[in-house]
Amino acid sequence: MISLQNVTLTYRTGHRLIPALRDVSLEVHAGEVFGIIGYSGAGKSTLLRCINLLERPQSGQVWVDGVDLLSLRKRELQKQRKKIGMIFQHFHLLNSATVRDNILFPLRLAKTPVAEAERRVAELLELVGLTGYERHYPSQLSGGQKQRVAIARALANFPKVLLCDEATSALDPETTQSILDLLREIHRQFGVTVVMVTHEISVVQRVCHRVAVMDQGRMVEVGRVVDVFLRPQAEVTRRLLGWTNAEGVGADLPEQVFREGTLVCELAMAGEAAQSPLLFQAAREAGVTCSILRGTVDAIQDTPFARMVVAWYGDAKQVQAAVRRLEAHGAAVRWLNKAERMLAADEAGMK
Ligand SMILES: Nc1ncnc2c1ncn2[C@@H]1O[C@H](COP(=O)(O)OP(=O)(O)O)[C@@H](O)[C@H]1O
Ligand SMILES: [Mg+2]
Repeated sequence: MISLQNVTLTYRTGHRLIPALRDVSLEVHAGEVFGIIGYSGAGKSTLLRCINLLERPQSGQVWVDGVDLLSLRKRELQKQRKKIGMIFQHFHLLNSATVRDNILFPLRLAKTPVAEAERRVAELLELVGLTGYERHYPSQLSGGQKQRVAIARALANFPKVLLCDEATSALDPETTQSILDLLREIHRQFGVTVVMVTHEISVVQRVCHRVAVMDQGRMVEVGRVVDVFLRPQAEVTRRLLGWTNAEGVGADLPEQVFREGTLVCELAMAGEAAQSPLLFQAAREAGVTCSILRGTVDAIQDTPFARMVVAWYGDAKQVQAAVRRLEAHGAAVRWLNKAERMLAADEAGMK
């Protein structure tokens, strides 16, 4: 549905050049909910705005629904853009217009006959749960309601693609959940392809199928959400996921944890393994004990997902045996002790 190839975009402000996108390529499949995460300034919004050519890259290609957008003339581009809806962090509603007129706006631009447009507005208001709010002005609405109006407006012309730029970042957690539920419902009902830019990991975790990670204008990692969360490859991904901070791996654990050679590892498990008593079974069978220093068990959409930091007590060889057993069940393990990390890397190299 969306294909960006070797897209490069540099902003120029005065004498300064800001490389916002450096040779970025991206494929988003039809019907997918695709997340783009990264820290502020990574280039996420710029990338999203390239998909509908709100920004024109200096080089590279942008294809949407089989059409090479950069090759189009203005009129043609406007026509193609109707296939792409967009919502923003701060809603971008017309404050002097009613809810009805905000949603009518794109329908008027598309020269939709009046009666049909009115029907569509009623339909959209029902979809986003705002029937009865036609005559309200944006200033009379809560943030969540404003975003619902923006979603209705974005969907007015039956787009195939919905671009969301930090759509929930200005909302409280409960409202965020309700907007994410609505987006999921829209995706389920209409099969629209959704691209979501966010700096919030939890948003990706709750609704996205695949995710790309951006850092300083580059795409550093892309994959299924479960895979990326289980085995983050890039340092920046590990930081975004909270596995490590600027001081380095394990820096925030109390120092005595590492004293007397205690073996400490990070452990992530998805699916069945995340819910079973695997960790304690593995420890018992290897004749060692362990304690969980940190951990969460939640879900990536419907897949259980557990992540923890585990300290092991006992003979090092037996600890290794326990850990290998966990790995055999699909657990991702990363040692926080330097020596163990080197040993694991050696073993991986021998395979
Ligand atoms: N219109 C602009 N003019 C100049 N620089 C810009 C403009 N928009 C974004 N930038 C710069 O480009 C980089 C990427 O910005 P952006 O795409 O907004 O990142 P993100 O959405 O990940 O926070 C940043 O360094 C930002 O300051
Ligand atoms: Mg942004």
